[in-house]
Amino acid sequence: MRLSLYLLLFASLIFLPFACGKTEHLQGESLYLQNCSGCHFESGQGLRQLMPPLAGSDYLEKYPELVVRGIRRGMLGEMVVNGKVYNHEMPGNKELSDFQIVNIMNYINQAWGNDYGNITVPDCRKWLQE
Ligand code: HEC
Repeated sequence: MRLSLYLLLFASLIFLPFACGKTEHLQGESLYLQNCSGCHFESGQGLRQLMPPLAGSDYLEKYPELVVRGIRRGMLGEMVVNGKVYNHEMPGNKELSDFQIVNIMNYINQAWGNDYGNITVPDCRKWLQE
């Protein structure tokens, strides 16, 4: 009896972090589908010279701080993504909280074969203040 209680406790300590990470990942995905996929598409492929791709994007990998600011405030002006020049306006998302932006970032950083690590809420807040 004792042993099974310990086992249960042990198992929940091990699986709890995965359960939490999973919820955030799911929130990131649904926020992406609501706010971003209209332009960048569900597959993250983008659209020819109009919408840059997020899948395999070197810009996303190199400049997470610019992306976080761009999600909040919008993006304007020329940018180069995987060697191609894009120059269209991306609207900002003032209604998204810092947490929601972090969840979206961690979703797009890991979706479609991307492997760009994770960002934290303190990273996000620091970048938004700069
Ligand atoms: C109305 C269309 C539109 C929506 C909606 C939109 N974007 Fe963008 N996004 C763009 C355009 C256009 C650019 C290129 C901006 C430029 O040329 O300066 C861009 C650039 C980017 C980039 C940097 C370039 C790259 O491909 O890596 C990222 C990352 C990005 N968007 C992520 C997002 C995320 C995340 C959301 C949702 C919160 C979002 N976008 C919503 C149109 C959009």
